[in-house]
Amino acid sequence: MGPPGAGKGTQAKRLVEAFGMVHLSSGDIFRAEKAGGSDLGRKLAEYMGAGQLVPDDIVVKVMANAITKADADAGLLLDGFPRTVPQGEALDEQLDQAGKPLDGVVVITCDDEAIVQRITGRRSCPVCGRIYHVAFLPPKEEGLCDDHPEAELTQRADDREDVVRDRLAAYYRQTEPVIAYYRDRGEVNVVEVDGSGTPNEVTATLRDAVARMG
Ligand code: AP5
Repeated sequence: MGPPGAGKGTQAKRLVEAFGMVHLSSGDIFRAEKAGGSDLGRKLAEYMGAGQLVPDDIVVKVMANAITKADADAGLLLDGFPRTVPQGEALDEQLDQAGKPLDGVVVITCDDEAIVQRITGRRSCPVCGRIYHVAFLPPKEEGLCDDHPEAELTQRADDREDVVRDRLAAYYRQTEPVIAYYRDRGEVNVVEVDGSGTPNEVTATLRDAVARMG
């Protein structure tokens, strides 16, 4: 968990390489649906483009399906889901029914102005999804993915400053309460990691935190 731009996607990709779990990002799943041009994709685009959360009934259905389909013997790393308390309750119910425990919740923190800088400079590879930043994590060759030099990096439609501010407001109003939801339950290990260091510093702290979760 963490506000938009805190580094969830960047760090999730590194954790998956280190620990071998399956990475399920709700944002990536929704963007793929949007790109496919389905009716659902068009509906998702309305909310995402406005910096608002997608309604819970849609999110829960799409994510429950993705979790069921994931081949996750080595575990699942959920990125961007759950983002509201009702989503957390739906996830708990699904995990209970599947007999799978929630090992822990990691929250990456970062202050608002750094987030705006990070998000407005973000670029990603349309082939592999690798995330760059024009200043903080630039590719070797400007505008091109290191692993797919034939692919020009793209900017997300919701990465404009005005939309970022709306996404931040949605985070504080609707998603922060999910952290309290898990803390109040007591049995879930909730770890806060400072996301303001360099990407490698954050990775080192996160790897320790995740290793301790078993
Ligand atoms: P989603 O795709 O989940 O976006 P988000 O939560 O807003 O998070 P981001 O992907 O923007 O940021 P990140 O934390 O992954 O940062 P990143 O690693 O890329 O959701 C998009 C939309 O989909 C939502 O607004 C909503 O509409 C909808 N949605 C998704 N899930 C939903 C749900 N469950 N319920 C309802 N609606 C949902 O890093 C950002 C940039 O910073 C990059 O350029 C990176 O290179 C750079 N960077 C990363 N780490 C560092 C560092 N340590 N130092 C300097 N730069 C860094």
